[in-house]
Amino acid sequence: QSRQTRSLCQLAPVIPVIVIKDLARAEGLAQALVTGGLPVLEVTLRSEVALDAIRAMSAVEGGHVGAGTVLTPDDAKRACDAGARFAVSPGLTDRLIDACQEIGLPLLPGAVTASEVMRAVDAGYDMLKFFPAEAVGGAPALKSLAGPLPKVSFCPTGGVTPKNAPDYLALPNVVCVGGSWIATDADTGAGNWAAVQERASIAAGLTRA
Ligand code: 3PG
Repeated sequence: QSRQTRSLCQLAPVIPVIVIKDLARAEGLAQALVTGGLPVLEVTLRSEVALDAIRAMSAVEGGHVGAGTVLTPDDAKRACDAGARFAVSPGLTDRLIDACQEIGLPLLPGAVTASEVMRAVDAGYDMLKFFPAEAVGGAPALKSLAGPLPKVSFCPTGGVTPKNAPDYLALPNVVCVGGSWIATDADTGAGNWAAVQERASIAAGLTRA
């Protein structure tokens, strides 16, 4: 189940997590991020305009726009209809797995404990989101999972910053990280694309293990 999400996660060291409030800013934001070197974008379904933003951002050449905060089968269906290429969830439920498989939407599900990871692997997923990364123990916690579960890869998200991102990216079981620091509310609201693009290119230059 994870072939496509793994390929997407391999495209850049960072997936910007986006909360878009003003639809008019969507396409410009996506353009700035893609130009800066971050082609894979996670648009969280946490704002009124999120689905329309996914539609608008999908028009940007070279981008791969997915939906984040996908919690239910209905979220997955709406995201897919809006053109999302993948779905990211903070967790994993049977209903969500079934829905994503039925509609053919690649899913990056969340798992943190060994039991959750084993359950995800049982369901066929070996590329997972590790959320909320910092709060559950950060890079040391994730490193510990590599011992018993070496074939599982992660995208840690939640509290990841430019400062701690290199610690995660140095781990053999981390493919990329996710974070909201690149597309800030302030710069997105103001359409300050130069600042966003600058942070994107710094993030794109981070080294991976
Ligand atoms: C998410 O939505 O996946 C995370 O909450 C993003 O976390 P951050 O804001 O700490 O980067």
